[in-house]
Amino acid sequence: MSKMKFAGLVGSLRKGAHSATVMRTLQELAPEGTEIEVLEIGHLPHYDEDLKADGSPQAVLDFAAGLRGADGVVIVTPEYNRSMPGVLKNALDWVSKEPEPPFADKPVAIISQSPGALGGILANYHLRQVLSVMRADFLTGGEVAINGVAGKMADGTITDEGTRKVLTRDLERLAQMVRVVELTRGA
Ligand SMILES: Cc1cc2nc3c(=O)[nH]c(=O)nc-3n(C[C@H](O)[C@H](O)[C@H](O)COP(=O)(O)O)c2cc1C
Repeated sequence: MSKMKFAGLVGSLRKGAHSATVMRTLQELAPEGTEIEVLEIGHLPHYDEDLKADGSPQAVLDFAAGLRGADGVVIVTPEYNRSMPGVLKNALDWVSKEPEPPFADKPVAIISQSPGALGGILANYHLRQVLSVMRADFLTGGEVAINGVAGKMADGTITDEGTRKVLTRDLERLAQMVRVVELTRGA
């Protein structure tokens, strides 16, 4: 049987990003029968309606196709000024205007992180607001907002046991949501 595929989006471009560490940890923890493939977003041009005049840029088409081909999406983001980073919003804006909107009815897990005390919960909720209008099916309740992230990792992975449990549970919930969506589609 083929594996359930999750597309992973990371809202930070910097080398050594805590968000990337969380994503790597999610890849390690992916439940049996599932896998996460990270889709890059840093190379997408700034959204510009004029660039769509002759069809969307190839990078956008490829990104949208990657999302459409995934059974679910996992987003890990930092918080910038109480919202999501522009690079992530830019990626979402591009695909929101594509035909067959890739987020429509797509199961999504939203995870924020911050070295601060609130775990980027406001970015987490901004993302929920934006994904709502794209008709995404995101996990609700038990929001994952990892606070004090810098103290919960070592050697490029999340080592804090409580956080690893929460991440594992979130992926299990996402896989379950994918199964339910597939059942209702009669797949
Ligand atoms: C422009 C900018 C704005 C930030 N705003 C917030 C914020 O509103 N809330 C917060 O908790 N951290 C904020 N931070 C700190 C980030 O959470 C921290 O830099 C984090 O490590 C970035 O994630 P990354 O390691 O994945 O790049 C901000 C950082 C930057 C660069």
